[in-house]
Amino acid sequence: MVRICVLGTGHVGLVYSVALALDGHEVCGADVDAKVISSLSRGQPTFFEPGLAETLADAIGTGRLSFSTDILESALRADVIFLAVGTPSRRDGSIDLAYLRAAAREVGRAMRRASRYQVVVVKSTVIPGTTEDVVRPLLERASGKKAGKGFGLCVNPEFLREGSAVQDALHPDRLVIGALDSRSLEALDAVYARQVCPRLATDLRTAEMVKYATNAFLATKVSFANELANLCDALGSINVDTVVEGMGLDPRINPKFLKAGLGFGGSCFPKDVRALVAAGTHRKYRARLLKAALSLNDVQPLRAVGLAEKALGSLRARRVVILGLAFKGGSDDVRESRAIPLARALLRKGANVVGFDPAANDAFHKVVPRVEIAQDLASALDGADVCIIQNDWPQWRELRAVDFMGMRRGIVIDGRRIVNRETMGAVTLVVLGG
Ligand code: UDX
Repeated sequence: MVRICVLGTGHVGLVYSVALALDGHEVCGADVDAKVISSLSRGQPTFFEPGLAETLADAIGTGRLSFSTDILESALRADVIFLAVGTPSRRDGSIDLAYLRAAAREVGRAMRRASRYQVVVVKSTVIPGTTEDVVRPLLERASGKKAGKGFGLCVNPEFLREGSAVQDALHPDRLVIGALDSRSLEALDAVYARQVCPRLATDLRTAEMVKYATNAFLATKVSFANELANLCDALGSINVDTVVEGMGLDPRINPKFLKAGLGFGGSCFPKDVRALVAAGTHRKYRARLLKAALSLNDVQPLRAVGLAEKALGSLRARRVVILGLAFKGGSDDVRESRAIPLARALLRKGANVVGFDPAANDAFHKVVPRVEIAQDLASALDGADVCIIQNDWPQWRELRAVDFMGMRRGIVIDGRRIVNRETMGAVTLVVLGG
């Protein structure tokens, strides 16, 4: 059992607080937001994530998980302190370290009072060099101790996917631990003693880079698949899924994350790739490949607009439905959802845009209020000219021709290659990527 403080109780911090407590550790989740802490103390998560409410209750029930607004006290009592605060994007794509700096200063003040060896672990996603060049000096100044002597320092990136974050934290498929020295590494290894999965031990900046490299590669894979889909359309009568299946027979090519669609969104891919590009630019390196992955992603939602215009002609005064507003199926998150640029482009074309999502209607309405929000599928489609499927909710797979009966013109643009073509009957189905 290790005494742990997790600083920051957002998506990452809360999920890890729960997972680490269930793994047998004594955990205190600390945050400056009193409202959040009061809700969590009552066992109520502040955002939706499958399985989180149940596991939070279980973890609190063990007596090993508590929450506090007293960051100094929580850090003072812990052996291992995780920094899991947000690193939001700035205008130029680079990340804002204000929360991380504040957290490091406060933890340093706690460490000044602590008489034993403690380890600080950066879990927030930060550009390589940040832990050594920003976090370490702040900790050393505030604590009056030297990293490597008075305290330990690690970088331990998270790889949580929305929708399966709790499972990803409880059963990670890999652990990447960047450590300042072997004593820091041993301390963090002890935290993950129960996990059976591949581990990679590195220095601090390499671990920071692994996180960005992973997300940049996956995002690039998605853009690659989207480029293939667009080329399949240009060349005619080629199904991009079959092409990817064929590619995947090559043992050097993993076919996962090659599902073509209207682009990638969410809280990580766009933000992390932009941050890496910006970090290169600040150091006079132009990341051409990553810039291309981003620029394709910017225009990919417009493919659906082009396909709709090809099928219908002008979209002016037409009722166009966007089915799926969240950045992916199974989520209520609209951050960087491709439905946002899609809706704005349709509005610019003069279309009457209607949106429907099983979970993200309210969140989307706040971002693009000019889009009419429908409360169910039937009222969304009622009298519509075109329906564009934007994300991959599993229920879109079950759609039948009869579901589109209420449309004025039965034109469906499948932007995620998800509907069952066999059951579309008289619907005019246009599938992105053949
Ligand atoms: C991602 C990473 O998977 C996770 O490891 C990291 O910690 C955070 O970012 P998440 O944002 O939850 O997780 O979503 P993910 O399921 O990876 O999808 C990201 C975006 O790419 C979505 O918009 C999705 O629709 C899109 N995508 C994904 C595709 O278009 N095609 C694919 O084959 C896979």
